[in-house]
Amino acid sequence: MRILILGGDGYLGWPTAMSFAAQGHDVCVVDNYLRRNIARETSSEALFDNPNLVDRAALFEATHGKRIRVEIADCNDYRSLERIVRDTGPEAVVHYAEQPSAPYSMRGFDEARRTLDNNLGATFNTVWALLQHAPECHLIKLGTMGEYGTPNIDIEEGWLDVEHNGRRQKFLYPRQAGSLYHTTKVLDTDLLWFYVRTHGLRVTDLMQGPVYGIDTAETRGDQRLMPNFHYDDIFGTVVNRFLVQAVAGIPLTVYGKGGQTRGYLNLKDTLQCVALAAAHPVKRGELRILNQFTEQFTVNQLAARVQAAGARIGIDVAVKNIENPRKEAEDHYYNAKHQALLDLGLEPHLMTEEVLVEMMQHVIRHKAAIDPRKVLPRVRWNG
Ligand SMILES: NC(=O)c1ccc[n+]([C@@H]2O[C@H](COP(=O)([O-])OP(=O)(O)OC[C@H]3O[C@@H](n4cnc5c(N)ncnc54)[C@H](O)[C@@H]3O)[C@@H](O)[C@H]2O)c1
Repeated sequence: MRILILGGDGYLGWPTAMSFAAQGHDVCVVDNYLRRNIARETSSEALFDNPNLVDRAALFEATHGKRIRVEIADCNDYRSLERIVRDTGPEAVVHYAEQPSAPYSMRGFDEARRTLDNNLGATFNTVWALLQHAPECHLIKLGTMGEYGTPNIDIEEGWLDVEHNGRRQKFLYPRQAGSLYHTTKVLDTDLLWFYVRTHGLRVTDLMQGPVYGIDTAETRGDQRLMPNFHYDDIFGTVVNRFLVQAVAGIPLTVYGKGGQTRGYLNLKDTLQCVALAAAHPVKRGELRILNQFTEQFTVNQLAARVQAAGARIGIDVAVKNIENPRKEAEDHYYNAKHQALLDLGLEPHLMTEEVLVEMMQHVIRHKAAIDPRKVLPRVRWNG
């Protein structure tokens, strides 16, 4: 299959590119290094360096004998994206090219504007480039479970059957995100649903939970092929922050009461989910929404797991509740369905103690590079 990966330098984009290329697909990646630039601007650099995309692709070719074509370009620039789509004629596009940090999007006007413009612009341009140059192409778009927020009813996979005054209609499941970044994903979904209805676009929208892990089949333990590992308050997910805090001897900072529940998944499972979506494309005029996670935990449960993993290798880990910098429910009902990807064949890799210990050991190798100033919250939107 000819596959175009937008955001191919990113945490998910690079492992996805390697995985598809290793399976023999024809892969082209596009990135404009937005993530690296924002990391520099906000002192949120990753724990270890990642070679740039061109160097990584050369290294991958040398070690795996497979070529990944690289385009350094901005998806928010329509003429560039249009040219790439025309040149590559993709059968599937995996769209990761967005500004994915909630705290960054809540930092101030400039950051909010940049997030809104970038994310909506990249999605809009992707839609148009496909409509004009590859209308049969299957667009696999990364959304987030955060689009749903934390409603007091079960979260369905994308749609909700509503009965009103004796009549029924299926609608997009109501969305109420907790940050501007997550809200751009809600707007993306609306935009996609519009072009699916009116222009027959083929779309799978993956509502993904936070991902953890740095090793995949293709990295083969070679750090130069591993994706970015951020542990700061801007780009670091709670799992990465806890692992780094554990290694640095900083108490794990649980925001508020710690009852915030989310669905998590292993990076290896993101690769499986995207591959399954690509292998089972939807028809023209169909929007398929899949909830993409394998297990759900509260923040307190995550802290306890990291504590147990630390104890296993002789690290004494403390936990501290701090004021929540975010505006979010800290104790809430959460029951999100996630059956459809299992039905397609997903075989979950769970967050075992071994998995956490392995990640912690990798962090230990870089202990000297940990900057403790990066791990505490620097952005607040708790009003
Ligand atoms: N990592 C997670 O836990 C997670 C969870 C849910 C959803 N997602 C979504 O998955 C996608 C990928 O996330 P990630 O963690 O790999 O983030 P990332 O920041 O590491 O990757 C995104 C990549 O897209 C690039 N990019 C952004 N805007 C671009 C543009 N206009 N043109 C070209 N390239 C652009 C960035 O430079 C970056 O390399 C995002 O859309 C994110 O919202 C991620």
